[in-house]
Amino acid sequence: MNLIRRIEKLKKEKKAVILAHNYQRPEIQDVADYVGDSIELSRKAMLEQNAEIIVFSAVDFMAESASILNPAKKVILPSLGARCPMAQMLTVDEIKRAKVHHPHAPVVLYVNTLASSKAYCDVCCTSANAVEVINSLDADLILFGPDRNLAEYVVEKTGKTLIPIPEWGFCPTHLLFQPEDVMVLKKQHPDSVVMVHPECSFEMRKVADFVGSTSRMCRYAQNTPAKTVIVGTEEGLLHRLRKENLEKTFIIAYKDAVCPNMKLTTLDRLYAALKEEKHVVKVPEPVATKARLALERMFQVKSSSK
Ligand code: 13P
Ligand code: SF4
Repeated sequence: MNLIRRIEKLKKEKKAVILAHNYQRPEIQDVADYVGDSIELSRKAMLEQNAEIIVFSAVDFMAESASILNPAKKVILPSLGARCPMAQMLTVDEIKRAKVHHPHAPVVLYVNTLASSKAYCDVCCTSANAVEVINSLDADLILFGPDRNLAEYVVEKTGKTLIPIPEWGFCPTHLLFQPEDVMVLKKQHPDSVVMVHPECSFEMRKVADFVGSTSRMCRYAQNTPAKTVIVGTEEGLLHRLRKENLEKTFIIAYKDAVCPNMKLTTLDRLYAALKEEKHVVKVPEPVATKARLALERMFQVKSSSK
């Protein structure tokens, strides 16, 4: 029996559901029950009732959020080494220091943070709802981390003042994109449109026709009349884009834009993790209780991302 069949059999036997982020390898996306962006996957994990095991094919902070939002389930991260470097850039000490300097400013954290940091924030956001979350707050000065580019994008959209914590948090994969590469591609494909993730630099956002989360980019790609789309995000998204839009052409804006952490999940590792029920992600109380509040507040904000 091939590996995919074995995973499917095991999944039924163990009452497991497989959630995969849009950046996962094509074969992982294809074996998953659901593929989505970070807010969609968090919501799926939170509302999951039937499964006993949630296999979260993504990186550490996403599996942590699933465990926080649905603590009764066993959450498995197929590859223990799949850690988002941006999430590691913000420490609890840094948040505490920033709060001392700005005691009245609410703290908003991108979900790309560890649970220990989430426990020290007022509300979380993702790239799909950051603008709405910031607009929902009755404050003009806000501490925001860890992604500096997302912070600047939100400032452009809301006019509020965001103090970045840390000063220069970033995604190493999205910083690989450069506008000059886009210009070359635009010359070759003059009728194309450009869509990028808000983790990209200001210069990249400036040359984009659309800026949004991974799943929002999927919706934009479906709706645009353009037949060629230049994509400024991790290359894994192109698998889904191509599957959903057979008549369109998708070109990655930089061919080596790979998140090595997202790619650590392979079929072999997924199978082994499910079989041995290993790399269980469990956030200890009371960190989970505090972080849950921040995540739940995010879900209460009305967002067009639903
Ligand atoms: P999305 O929420 O847009 O899927 O982004 C998650 C992420 O890690 C982007 O690098
Ligand atoms: Fe983290 Fe960037 Fe990878 Fe997203 S693409 S998981 S932000 S390193």
